[in-house]
Amino acid sequence: MKIVVIGGTGLIGSKLVTKLREHGHEAVAAAPNPGVNAVTGEGLAEALRGASVVVDVSNAPSWEDTAVLKFFETSTRNLIAHEAAAGVRHHVALSVVGSERMLESGYFRAKIAQENLIKGSSIPYSIVRATQFFEFVKPIADFSTDGHKVRLPSALIQPMAADDVASAVGQIAVGPPVNGTVEVGGPEQFPLDELVRRGLAAWKDPREVIADSQARYYGVKLSERTLVPGDGARLGQTRFQSWLTQAAAQIPSAHPEPTSVAVGTKEKESRKKAS
Ligand SMILES: NC(=O)c1ccc[n+]([C@@H]2O[C@H](COP(=O)([O-])OP(=O)(O)OC[C@H]3O[C@@H](n4cnc5c(N)ncnc54)[C@H](OP(=O)(O)O)[C@@H]3O)[C@@H](O)[C@H]2O)c1
Repeated sequence: MKIVVIGGTGLIGSKLVTKLREHGHEAVAAAPNPGVNAVTGEGLAEALRGASVVVDVSNAPSWEDTAVLKFFETSTRNLIAHEAAAGVRHHVALSVVGSERMLESGYFRAKIAQENLIKGSSIPYSIVRATQFFEFVKPIADFSTDGHKVRLPSALIQPMAADDVASAVGQIAVGPPVNGTVEVGGPEQFPLDELVRRGLAAWKDPREVIADSQARYYGVKLSERTLVPGDGARLGQTRFQSWLTQAAAQIPSAHPEPTSVAVGTKEKESRKKAS
């Protein structure tokens, strides 16, 4: 089966392409670098020729409110139009558990817009909503850092390994379209401040994590269960502690200077917007 992975060079996409190939599928990693741009449409017609399934695990380069909405709306419209022309039979998209509960954030408004375009299209679909990736714990800390302190609420979070996300997306992609939403999450829940505290301790990062009920998560006021999936969620196997043991050596800035914490473009722009 030919499966085109939009965002196939990213964190989830690259793992997904590898897994699909291991299972004997023809997986195409589509992204701007290899010449496929879902926003401009460049290379889409060629990439989708003969494809049965398109999996969209792309992400926007900017999380500024207008830019991120434009990214997900334009790319999703382009994908749907090209899929209809190519006879694609299943569109799979990766979204975020609880997006509809976080509409204070432009990022989650954009994810809901993406979901709604998919639901309103003629292409059979599956929307996979995942909880936060373990790989996202450090960006959460960086975004919530002020000096040497990280302020976060104690709302529950049920994070999962990116590898388990890719496995779940892959299983759904090779199955029949559900024409609905599937939730996936991790095997354990943590208070958000405690999760980040454990991560930073494992990475020997000296920042202090402070539980602060007034602190926001990417501009969103969380209630206790905003981030956690419902009872029917499929659960990944990997526990945070065992992921830390396997992955700690791969964390790029395990010993950051708290005053010069590396903050990516996305985080910088979101932070600018939030402030
Ligand atoms: N972070 C979390 O905890 C979390 C939780 C649940 C769901 N999600 C969802 O998971 C998805 C994937 O996240 P990720 O962390 O794997 O993303 P990522 O590592 O940032 O990768 C994004 C991918 O999108 C590609 N891309 C960017 N612009 C594109 C364009 N115009 N056309 C085609 N591809 C483009 C990138 O290609 P280049 O590298 O060439 O730019 C890259 O391959 C996102 O939709 C996100 O909402 C994330």
